[in-house]
This record gives sequence, structure tokens and C-alpha cells, in this order.
Amino acid sequence: VIAHVQPPLLAGQRVLVTAGPTFEAIDPVRGITNHSSGKMGFAIARAAREAGAEVTLVAGPVHLRTPRGVRRVDVQSAQQMFDAVMAEVASATVFVAAAAVADWRPAQPAERKLKKDGSGQPPALTFVENPDILATVAALPRARSGELYCVGFAAESHDLLAHAQAKRARKGVPLLVGNIGPATFGRDDNALLLVDEREVVELPPAPKIALARQLVAEIARRLRGV
Ligand code: CTP
Ligand code: CA
Repeated sequence: VIAHVQPPLLAGQRVLVTAGPTFEAIDPVRGITNHSSGKMGFAIARAAREAGAEVTLVAGPVHLRTPRGVRRVDVQSAQQMFDAVMAEVASATVFVAAAAVADWRPAQPAERKLKKDGSGQPPALTFVENPDILATVAALPRARSGELYCVGFAAESHDLLAHAQAKRARKGVPLLVGNIGPATFGRDDNALLLVDEREVVELPPAPKIALARQLVAEIARRLRGV
């Protein structure tokens, strides 16, 4: 067996990654989630660890094995993911937001299971917006000063480049990664579009772990300022 040992591109870095979907409770037995598999975020955590970083992975509800050597914190809701990230981010030097965070949650989850009342009328759910984890982290003084390098993701159905550039500006992050192509959720392959202030880099279709290693190399290059 030949080990493909990478040079320790991220030696000395502490990388915090979010991955997977979130789950927003409606009542004790139901909730709202999405089709994120968590595979891309887990692959990034693994690749960052392989590159010599200390890695913490904040994971929504997924069925994936924890990459070797990675510290994992499991959460359910966006608010829990926000809290976990805020508790970990002070010691991080890189933050990668790969999670598909629910934008909204039911305003008032019911304490008991909602029951049909026989009227044929569905319950009216009202929603509130979840905190934006990436935008909040990117606005921290350590992120603004460049001590904490923030990477966002975007899954768009159309006009990826324009949306990625706009999202990069809106989130205030140096690097935004777009998922190219239809329905990457759950698949093992993907293609990525990296957008920073200087350039647009396309990573052609490849297994997610291969893309994650390339992304780690791209992040490492930017950390070195080249
Ligand atoms: N994100 C986050 N917290 C949220 C929503 C999104 O940290 N509450 C992060 C995602 O992990 C991703 C980036 O922000 O890295 C972009 O997420 P996306 O859903 O594409 O963007 P939104 O700002 O939510 O805009 P929209 O869904 O309307 O396109
Ligand atoms: Ca969103």
C-alpha cells in the first residue's frame, strides 16, 4: 500500500467546519430539514486533518463516520449549530461553512405532538429567520483582521457565478465556493467554483474527497498570501 502523504499544508492551523443539514422542530415528532448529506463538509474536515490541521467538525444530523483525528460536535438545529460554532470559533484560524443551514425555523415549536382536529384545516405554521452563522463569524474582529480565514459555500440552481460573487460580498468572506451542477446533495462527486477578490477557479467534476483536498490546497495558498 502506497500512502499518499500530503505535505502538511495546514500545519499549525485550527480549522472549524460546519457540515450537513439542520433539523428544525415543529413538534416533538416532526421537523423541517433538507437533503444535505454532509459529505462535502466531512470530506473537507478529513482533508484539513490530512493536511496537518487541528480540526473541529460541527455536524448536523447525518449518517457519516467521523474522519480520523477530527473532533466532532453533533447538533440538530441552526441555533444549536450557531451556539456550537460560537463556542469553538475563538480558537480557530480557518472557518469553513459547508453546512446547509435552515434559513427559517418554526416560530414556536409545539411542546406536544400536533393532532388533527377533524376540521380538515392544517395547522398554520409561522417561521422566524435563523441566525446567519457564516455572516456572524465573518463579522468578528478576528475575521475582519484576517486572523480567522472564512470560507462560505453556495448551492445555487442558476447563475452560479453571479450569485457566488454577490454572496461573497454579502457575507463578507474572502472565499466563496459554489457547487456547480445539478443536485450535488448526497452524491459522491461534485464540481466547485472558487470565487475570491482576485480570481475565479474552477475545480472540475471529481470525488468530493479529491475536491476537498484541492480546496484545502487553495485555502493554504491564500493563507500564505500567494
Ligand atoms: N449559512 C450559515 N448560516 C445560515 C445560512 C447560511 O452559516 N443561517 C452559510 C452556509 O453554510 C453557506 C453560506 O452561508 O456557507 C451560504 O448559504 P446559502 O444558503 O447559499 O445562502 P443564504 O445567505 O442563506 O441565502 P439564500 O439561501 O437565500 O440563497
Ligand atoms: Ca440559505
